[in-house]
Amino acid sequence: MSLLFSKTTLGSLTLQNRLVMSPMTRNRATGNIPNELMAQYYAQRASAGLIITEGTSPSPNGLGYPRIPGIFSAAQVAGWKRVTDAVHAQGAKMFIQFMHCGRTASVTDRKSTRLNSSH
Ligand SMILES: Cc1cc2nc3c(=O)[nH]c(=O)nc-3n(C[C@H](O)[C@H](O)[C@H](O)COP(=O)(O)O)c2cc1C
Repeated sequence: MSLLFSKTTLGSLTLQNRLVMSPMTRNRATGNIPNELMAQYYAQRASAGLIITEGTSPSPNGLGYPRIPGIFSAAQVAGWKRVTDAVHAQGAKMFIQFMHCGRTASVTDRKSTRLNSSH
């Protein structure tokens, strides 16, 4: 077996192999809530050792592209739970990538007011 497909550890986690999937925005989270299509997408890739989610907004004013997921409401947390359950069932581990879109965001995607300059 090649090294790439051998088990390894990352801190306290055991990974089934050394393949890591990078964050890839897919714009599929209608209403910014992770859904069944996303659970299917991630489960299909869960032969990796570790999956890092697509950029996910930690707050309403962090939204900035159409249909990116968030993780600031109960519905979003429940949606992500469906995704992580599907991924864990295939043996992969999952990390979230927090992504705040800052001032590049379009106000049509942001759910609150303008952001001020941070510099
Ligand atoms: C310079 C650059 C940086 C990116 N960084 C991220 C990122 O940090 N998180 C994320 O979810 N998507 C990011 N994306 C978007 C994904 O990379 C994109 O979904 C991925 O390249 C897949 O491309 P595809 O639509 O051609 O399959 C980035 C894109 C570019 C061009």
